Amino acid sequence: METVNRLLDSIKDVGRDAVRGGYSRAVYTTPELDLRQWFIEQAQQRGLDVEADRNGITWAWWGKPRDGALVTGSHLDSVPGGGAFDGPLGVASALAAVDLLKSRGVEPRRSLAVTVFPEEEGSRFGVACLGSRLLTGAIDVDKARNLRDADGNTFADVAQANGLDPRHVGPDTAALARIGDFVELHVEQGRGLGDQGPAIAVGSSILGHGRWKLSVGGQGNHAGTTLMADRADPMVAAAQIVVAVRDTAAKQPDARATVGRLTPVPGGTNVIASRVDLWLDARHPDDAVTAQLIEAIYGAAREIAAGEGCTVSLTEESYSNTVHFDPALSRRIGELLPGAPVLATGAGHDAGVLAGHVPSAMLFVRNPSGISHSPEEYVADEDASAGAVALADVLEGLL
Ligand code: GLV
Ligand code: MN
Ligand code: MN
Repeated sequence: METVNRLLDSIKDVGRDAVRGGYSRAVYTTPELDLRQWFIEQAQQRGLDVEADRNGITWAWWGKPRDGALVTGSHLDSVPGGGAFDGPLGVASALAAVDLLKSRGVEPRRSLAVTVFPEEEGSRFGVACLGSRLLTGAIDVDKARNLRDADGNTFADVAQANGLDPRHVGPDTAALARIGDFVELHVEQGRGLGDQGPAIAVGSSILGHGRWKLSVGGQGNHAGTTLMADRADPMVAAAQIVVAVRDTAAKQPDARATVGRLTPVPGGTNVIASRVDLWLDARHPDDAVTAQLIEAIYGAAREIAAGEGCTVSLTEESYSNTVHFDPALSRRIGELLPGAPVLATGAGHDAGVLAGHVPSAMLFVRNPSGISHSPEEYVADEDASAGAVALADVLEGLL
């Protein structure tokens, strides 16, 4: 029997990022593929039957693959320079929970599967939860096939190179029917669990969130020969747009808006850029308010761009409505974990995408600082262990 801490320890060197710090485990890169292999081996050591579906989701079955199974799992990909726990904690806890259930002599009344979803972070192809979106039909299949990574490779080509047939990616009602209930354990990504008291919470909802691309066009030119008065520099407009994003969101209670990625084209120290692409992540509990926020940001961006002699366009790349987890399933989980607080989250998860189709719920494990998407993300060993035990208790109660 393996503890969740030992399982996490066994992958602690996979995908370390010497430049950014933390881990960079983008989908279908060597570290993420190594982690998939690790998962397959761990599942097989436990006697689970492993299969990959046509969207690249890995399923490890305890019992025959059957409709209505109890499914738990998370993801193994990361943001660039991410922490050790976002994703892998849920996968390692699921494996540890299987060990606990077996050591308790639990005889499952229905099949149990541990799943690993690809591209949860959207850090390579830009759309978060790509695996669960494809599975559920939450993304147009052609749009998904044509998503490109930073090097211009399409998702279709990369998927094909990794054994998926891009003609067959997309909604999979048979695979979805296998999920009777879905429970995802995840590191908490805020400070919702204090230093004292329970280390595990039950999830209630996920904030509506989306991603937009702003492209600011200007006049590419020479940094030395172009007089300051003669410039149409999209970088100068982009800098002001970043501030406008912050200021617009700050005026809207409960809104969050971030520009975490910005690419000047062509990107040279002595080159005035001809274009700057900015990616905007915006979130709010009310989808109508998010729409107004984006309109206000785009209005401000147009004004700023015009003031610099530039143009700007806005494209929505993905959107997920606010999700409330299944009340009956969450209530049952609350009964199985007496005293566990109930927490909402501002982070997106595959459980949120699945929630529109099958009863879904989440458990969160304490992260004392609340820091996540950063190398400083942290879970104490004893809290990780408590999380695996809580997951085992929940699975045992639901099986
Ligand atoms: C995923 O972690 C997200 O919330 O973007
Ligand atoms: Mn994340
Ligand atoms: Mn995650």
